[in-house]
Amino acid sequence: MVEWIASYRERMAELPVMSPLAPGDVKRHLPDTPPATGRGLDGILGDLDRVVLPGITHWNHPGFFAYFPSNSDLSSVLADMACAGLGAQAMSWQTSPAATEVEEVVVDWLRQMLGLGPQFTGVIQDTASTSTFCSLLCAREWTSAFGQSRGGLQAEEAPLIIYASDQAHSSIEKAALLAGFGKDNLRLIPTDDNHALRLDLLERAIEDDLAAGRRPCAMVAAIGTTATTAMDPLKGLAALSAQHGIWLHVDAAMAGTAMICPECRPLWEGIEGADSIVLNPHKWMGAGFDLSLYYVTDPEHLIRVMSTNPSYLRTEHDDEVKNLRDWGIPLGRRFRALKLWFLLKDQGVEGLQARIRRDLANAQWLKAQVQATGGWELMAPVSLQTVCVRHVPVGVTEEAKLRAHNLGIASRINGAGRYYLTPSVLKGRQILRVSIGSAATELADVEGLWEALMDAAMQSPE
Ligand SMILES: Cc1ncc(COP(=O)(O)O)c(C=O)c1O
Repeated sequence: MVEWIASYRERMAELPVMSPLAPGDVKRHLPDTPPATGRGLDGILGDLDRVVLPGITHWNHPGFFAYFPSNSDLSSVLADMACAGLGAQAMSWQTSPAATEVEEVVVDWLRQMLGLGPQFTGVIQDTASTSTFCSLLCAREWTSAFGQSRGGLQAEEAPLIIYASDQAHSSIEKAALLAGFGKDNLRLIPTDDNHALRLDLLERAIEDDLAAGRRPCAMVAAIGTTATTAMDPLKGLAALSAQHGIWLHVDAAMAGTAMICPECRPLWEGIEGADSIVLNPHKWMGAGFDLSLYYVTDPEHLIRVMSTNPSYLRTEHDDEVKNLRDWGIPLGRRFRALKLWFLLKDQGVEGLQARIRRDLANAQWLKAQVQATGGWELMAPVSLQTVCVRHVPVGVTEEAKLRAHNLGIASRINGAGRYYLTPSVLKGRQILRVSIGSAATELADVEGLWEALMDAAMQSPE
């Protein structure tokens, strides 16, 4: 298996980055009924090549410029093997003390690497969606003075309100709805020309809600929106949070990784005012999926919201240790911390910083090409590694035509197999979103993509 993974990584660059399969192509290779008798794993590697590999989109490919990166550094691949091999279930300290204690240590290493103060304590969750859901549950219980121990939200006299920007990730809305706030109580505040939340409009929304007797509960700041990596004005949000006693959650799922480079930290100035923060080392950093870091300033509150304490889970050490089952939603937990440990041991802080800086520089290179080339428009500031562009043929102004033209560019690029990017719509305008940050992507790959974009623009119908 190790040999197979190593050989896959070696030849990945030759494979089409986006899987070219049609729906049903993979299922066709598999029987409709399960094998009645076990026949061992002979031939399984051949099956992986035949059945699975054609249906894989290669997220670690040097030509991967889609979505956000999901880097799976080989050190973290080994860690995942160790995790599965050990088969440890880490719900409590006692059920595998190493899993809890390694997690405590590496999560604190990360805190230091990000420049966060000691008031933040972290825990590993599976995804940013889960972390944000935990955060909004904590906000709900904070504002309602533990309404869950009484009639819950249904018994609240005034509705509790959540604020985020209209560029916030869909996981914010999902969390707000699942946490029972209701769509009517979610305010998606308009953004400015840089796609960051407008503080003046947020202030007005809060005042309107207060005047109407509603209760502002939580604000979610995007530090790095998904569309453009726009940065919400965190300092202003933190001031409003302090002024009105509103919970402040920071969604830095992608951009959080950049903060290991001190020069990026002005982008989240005000972070010390947050009640909770999420960032995903399973994106740009290199700890293979799934590994999300959730930091809070009041772990006791988190535990009070999440903890259940049936007799069969109690142990003699409960007063001295962390039982991480009480720090999130699932009871059972994998030993995910191994991935961060292996990654940091292998690359060190400096190794990770060098890669992040390479990607930031590559994004600036692409931005400069776009700005210097007629017919190309930069659609958003390049604050990190995502470059949003579109091509505007001479004389074409109609949005529908521009949409078709740019979608044509995207489908040419994505269909050719060498590069993969995400076409997207930003405030009604079709864009091509180039997200740089696959660990394998060097400047030469970005140069190649730029050539391919210019060629595709010539060929795509106007
Ligand atoms: C800003 C932001 N927040 C949250 C998420 C959701 O991340 P996850 O897949 O870990 O739930 C994403 C995913 O790309 C994102 O870009």
